[in-house]
Amino acid sequence: MFGKVLISFITALLVFIPCSILIGTLDIRSSYQSPAIVAATSCADDIPLRVYMYDLPRRFNVGMLDHRNTTEAPVTAVDYPLWPDNSGLKRQHSVEYWMMGSLLNGGGNGSEAVRVLDPEHADVYFVPFFSSLSFNTHGHHMTDPETQIDRQLQIDLMGLLRQSKYWQRSGGRDHVFPMTHPNAFRFLRDQLNESIQVVVDFGRYPKRVSNLNKDVVSPYVHVVDSYIDDEPHDLYESRTTLLFFRGRTHRKDKGIVRAKFTKILAGFDDVHYERSFATGENIKLETRLPLAAFLMQL
Ligand SMILES: *[C@@H]1O[C@H](CO)[C@@H](O)[C@H](O)[C@H]1NC(C)=O
Ligand SMILES: *[C@@H]1O[C@H](CO)[C@@H](O)[C@H](O)[C@H]1NC(C)=O
Ligand SMILES: *[C@@H]1O[C@H](CO)[C@@H](O)[C@H](O)[C@H]1NC(C)=O
Repeated sequence: MFGKVLISFITALLVFIPCSILIGTLDIRSSYQSPAIVAATSCADDIPLRVYMYDLPRRFNVGMLDHRNTTEAPVTAVDYPLWPDNSGLKRQHSVEYWMMGSLLNGGGNGSEAVRVLDPEHADVYFVPFFSSLSFNTHGHHMTDPETQIDRQLQIDLMGLLRQSKYWQRSGGRDHVFPMTHPNAFRFLRDQLNESIQVVVDFGRYPKRVSNLNKDVVSPYVHVVDSYIDDEPHDLYESRTTLLFFRGRTHRKDKGIVRAKFTKILAGFDDVHYERSFATGENIKLETRLPLAAFLMQL
């Protein structure tokens, strides 16, 4: 049940992100609210999920976005920083940032999830540790000494949680951890085997640690800006490409699904299925590509 509501919450949040980025001057509070989208989802009549968010020192989250400020006080809605423009691929794994931003602002008006300040009144407990950014910031090369910082953050976090009455009560079963980078929380992920993990796939961890019975699969955050200069009356007629995909056509485990698509989609004039790699340059290029009626995400 929590899983279902969380999926709606995350999807609503992510669908809305591209709009908020385009409107760069939007005030931060409204950036995390998406009433129109939320109202359209099936759970709208249900009581919203009540989420308690732990107050963590900034080094666990926004401290990684602004290294100059070493303040430890938990971040608030007032001083929550904007997501940096120059983050490149890190943005793909930034679900943690948008979820926290949304909850700091109360979860949104008419939203699937609302923030409660009294942990006694919560259905679930959100742990705002930017585990993906921590990997991308501190441990990206896996073996460099910096990775020790990522490891220490995970150790410190578990230390804090174990002191929490709410963690002790459930063994973490009602605790939610965003960890969309496959290497996020890699040192201690075993200890979250009871908890709800927000992931993008189940590729690297055993079923006893991460599985569909308890976890939530979230989409990646788009790294390409949304296109908004469309002619609304001629939306599909003006687009001569029906389906567009540009990315890796080979992935781990032989990339079975992608290989199948290569076969199925070959030979159609209006289908563009191209092998490419996500680099900063390619992402910039992407915004200048011809438009297709449908964009495929894998
Ligand atoms: C660090 O951030 C806090 C909270 O936003 C702010 O009060 C403080 O002035 C900042 N310190 C510096 C050195 O910028
Ligand atoms: C929530 O929406 C209602 C109805 O649209 C509005 O009256 C109210 O001011 C909104 N509350 C917040 C906190 O935005
Ligand atoms: C999680 O791991 C602990 C320690 O290994 C184990 O006792 C527990 O049964 C595991 N829980 C699940 C749901 O697998």
